[in-house]
Amino acid sequence: MDGYAQFEDDNSINQSIQMEYFDRDADSSQELQDSEDMIVRIGNLHKTYLLGLEGVPALRGVSLEITRGEFICILGKSGGGKTSLLNCIGTIDKPTKGDLYICGKRVSSKTPDSEVAKLRLNNIGFCFQTFNLIGSMNAVENVELPMILDGRLTSTQMRTRAMNLLDQVGMIDRATSLPSQLSGGEQQRVTISRAVANQPDLLLLDEPTGDLDTRNSNIVVELLVNLNRKENMTMVLVTHDVSLKKFAHRVVHMLDGKISRIEEIPQETRDEAEAKLKEALNSPEVQTEGFQQDTEVREPRSHYSFHKFAKQYEDTKQKLRQMDDSVEV
Ligand SMILES: Nc1ncnc2c1ncn2[C@@H]1O[C@H](COP(=O)(O)OP(=O)(O)OP(=O)(O)O)[C@@H](O)[C@H]1O
Ligand SMILES: [Mg+2]
Repeated sequence: MDGYAQFEDDNSINQSIQMEYFDRDADSSQELQDSEDMIVRIGNLHKTYLLGLEGVPALRGVSLEITRGEFICILGKSGGGKTSLLNCIGTIDKPTKGDLYICGKRVSSKTPDSEVAKLRLNNIGFCFQTFNLIGSMNAVENVELPMILDGRLTSTQMRTRAMNLLDQVGMIDRATSLPSQLSGGEQQRVTISRAVANQPDLLLLDEPTGDLDTRNSNIVVELLVNLNRKENMTMVLVTHDVSLKKFAHRVVHMLDGKISRIEEIPQETRDEAEAKLKEALNSPEVQTEGFQQDTEVREPRSHYSFHKFAKQYEDTKQKLRQMDDSVEV
């Protein structure tokens, strides 16, 4: 695909930027002397939510290590702690007890907010089922948002990268559409583009195909498989859809706040699942099935939102435009 070739070029620029960034951080005293490939390291993690005067134990001693390039699928009954684990890994929630290292950095209740925000912006990409894009911004502006916050690329570079990312997910023709003008599947594809805009080390997905029809779900899964295979992007995917586990390297089964078992998926099974997925996507029968125009506007939840950055986006964009007259809008 052409978009991939362009993306690879774009990657090399961003990788060198990212390397500088890591170098700058190397002196931090909280740095874990782990291999660079240890993306997540969790030891005996506990998370208890306070509900009134009651404590609700969501995680009860979870230990897990995830290395670069792994595709992890988390399955389990409702209330088992899947989202709580993902939120702790994503630094949205701080653990009550236990060890948590993301990209070698220890995250605890004492970690300064600025450090956590930096991790979120540069190392972690999020993609959730029910709250996604900023309704007042079109697709390409939504994808640019994390790059604006990061502030390392020029306006032209951001627009080029955002368009490349949208191209990869087959959404280039809808770049100027508002979220409310896109179907659920299309919104999800834009969300994934935004989640990977700053080339995160780790992509976290909470039921990203949860409310999609088969066709859109297949498109999203293919996109994730490609990101994992071609970009070596580490992924943690929470789902209720058991059929997705065939695409993962390992499946973490959760029950009552604990890992009940970890299942390894043989490479053969993954290859077979990917071949079947490609077949389904190429089948004309499936292609005509199930497209629906969903006009729902999704608003991000308050605890993790780009919402508050909308004004900052406009101001920064304005300044960048003045500096860079060659921007095509
Ligand atoms: N903010 C919160 N306040 C209080 N209790 C919470 C909160 N978030 C989660 N819980 C509780 O923690 C436990 C684990 O919830 P969690 O959302 O992690 O489960 P889950 O496995 O993601 O479930 P589902 O499959 O339904 O999404 C549940 O008992 C839930 O009620
Ligand atoms: Mg959940």
